[in-house]
Amino acid sequence: MTILDGKKVSNDIKEEIAKDVEIMISKGEKVPHLAAILVGTDGASMTYVNAKVKACEKIGFNSTLIDLPEETPEEVLLEKINELNTNEAIDGFIVQLPLPKHIDEQKVLMAVDPDKDVDGFHPTNVGRMALDLPSFLPATPYGILELLERYEVETSGKNVVVMGRSHIVGRPMSILMSQKRKAGDATVTVVHSRTKNLSEITKGADIIVAAIGISEFLTGDMVKDGVVIIDVGITRVPDETKQRGYRLAGDVDFKSVSEKASYITPVPGGVGPMTIAMLLKNTLLARERRN
Ligand code: GUN
Repeated sequence: MTILDGKKVSNDIKEEIAKDVEIMISKGEKVPHLAAILVGTDGASMTYVNAKVKACEKIGFNSTLIDLPEETPEEVLLEKINELNTNEAIDGFIVQLPLPKHIDEQKVLMAVDPDKDVDGFHPTNVGRMALDLPSFLPATPYGILELLERYEVETSGKNVVVMGRSHIVGRPMSILMSQKRKAGDATVTVVHSRTKNLSEITKGADIIVAAIGISEFLTGDMVKDGVVIIDVGITRVPDETKQRGYRLAGDVDFKSVSEKASYITPVPGGVGPMTIAMLLKNTLLARERRN
């Protein structure tokens, strides 16, 4: 069994980007600048956004964090987005999800200039991705493709089961892996909360991407020997033995599934760090495209 070490691979990618930044600086070019908008004080979102900003600093990008209170009206958020759209200094930006309930997420994502949409969530980028045109790929699916590629996991002709149909992971993952590409050419099945005979389907999978947000849902009896496991889940599970009062769990029961898997991502240290690395990669791409 091989651990798909997202922490290591993401560090490799960040080093590669840092070298590109050094070259940009030596040529007197402007370095990439990523902005992130966070609305509210959700603990997990704060952790993710801070990690994204810290990663920017580490590789030599400029970064701006825009912290807005939970009760921010939708119009104020839309105004902020418009400011970032027109601010020449900003190459790309993200609005951290989820947003407070009083804000229409779709409206917000559609307000982002597609050329600065480094999350790849705007319908223009989703459409371009689906049509295999140049676009910004959403960071989590992009990170999973990169991880599979760098470990040379064969995907062509394989049965891939994507668990979950979210707009930011499951849906794009299923589209990308069915396309003609590296880490693609797979036969993809999407399963979700209404799927019948789930175990029968997962037992037929060569590769499983688990992105349903239910901790330790996928267990060893639901997979076949040699399966490749990508665990996108990251849930806080109460744990009194931990100082912070919780532990992080994936969608996969690591103990029982790793006994059968040929490759598996850990949680934490698997998909999570890859997501951040690919956001940086998209920001670099945004900078280059603006030249
Ligand atoms: N919330 C969970 N994942 C993501 C992500 O990739 N981007 C943004 N903006 N919000 C998220």
